[in-house]
Amino acid sequence: MSELILELKGVDMQFGGLKALSNISMSVRRGEFIGIIGPNGAGKTTLFNAISGVIPPTAGEVRVAGRPMQGRAPNDYCKLGVARTFQTPRIFPDMTVRDNVRFAHTFGNASGQGIELIEQVMHAVGMAGASNETAGAMPPARQRQLEIAMALATSPRLLLLDEVAAGLTEGEVEEVARLIQQLRGDYDLTVVWIEHAVKTLMKTVERVAVLNFGELIADGTPEQVAADQKVIDAYLGEEEAA
Ligand SMILES: Nc1ncnc2c1ncn2[C@@H]1O[C@H](COP(=O)(O)OP(=O)(O)OP(=O)(O)O)[C@@H](O)[C@H]1O
Ligand SMILES: [Mg+2]
Repeated sequence: MSELILELKGVDMQFGGLKALSNISMSVRRGEFIGIIGPNGAGKTTLFNAISGVIPPTAGEVRVAGRPMQGRAPNDYCKLGVARTFQTPRIFPDMTVRDNVRFAHTFGNASGQGIELIEQVMHAVGMAGASNETAGAMPPARQRQLEIAMALATSPRLLLLDEVAAGLTEGEVEEVARLIQQLRGDYDLTVVWIEHAVKTLMKTVERVAVLNFGELIADGTPEQVAADQKVIDAYLGEEEAA
């Protein structure tokens, strides 16, 4: 049995009258590569908020590396090796690429490595040549790459990627998929990747979880999920027709 890096038990997220997550239970084993799909508003980003300390769940339990996380701040998640990107990049627009990565490194309090790690992660995401550019002046796709570098600079074990390939062409999405695969190997990461680009996602990940109206309606191999009638009805039918 390999180590469980993340466990959710009965997780709810109630926003006033809206239940954005409803009784979600799932676990992630160390080293897994999981995709999360589902329609707009299904609760995918909310799930990331719940498992990175950004918005704690209103009920249920989240454990990271076996530790109960109730009442912990995002910084505690970071220390335990959880790093994430945001659907709308949260970078410091007036700072350079390098200074953004340096800030993330400091926030993550990553031990040792220092400058070396900062340069290395910029190189890893293909931004070494852009390190002195002003982050806010770059197009969104580059800002998302920067966010991946910032996440890596915290020395994560679990990397949560929220639509890092949004708005890209199919070919570019494939490139992002290859980059994630590469990083996963090089940095020994467990990866959870939210993306609407189902075709690429399904052939890249090992396991897919499907959210619909805040409920986990499927969790299995890409083959199992693609053949699941509930998933086809809720999401895939519509995506394929699009
Ligand atoms: N902080 C919040 N306060 C109130 N409602 C919220 C909040 N965050 C999300 N919601 C609502 O929760 C539901 C789930 O939103 P969420 O952003 O998690 O969806 P999603 O699956 O990430 O969608 P998309 O694919 O469009 O990114 C939506 O109805 C959204 O409006
Ligand atoms: Mg989202």
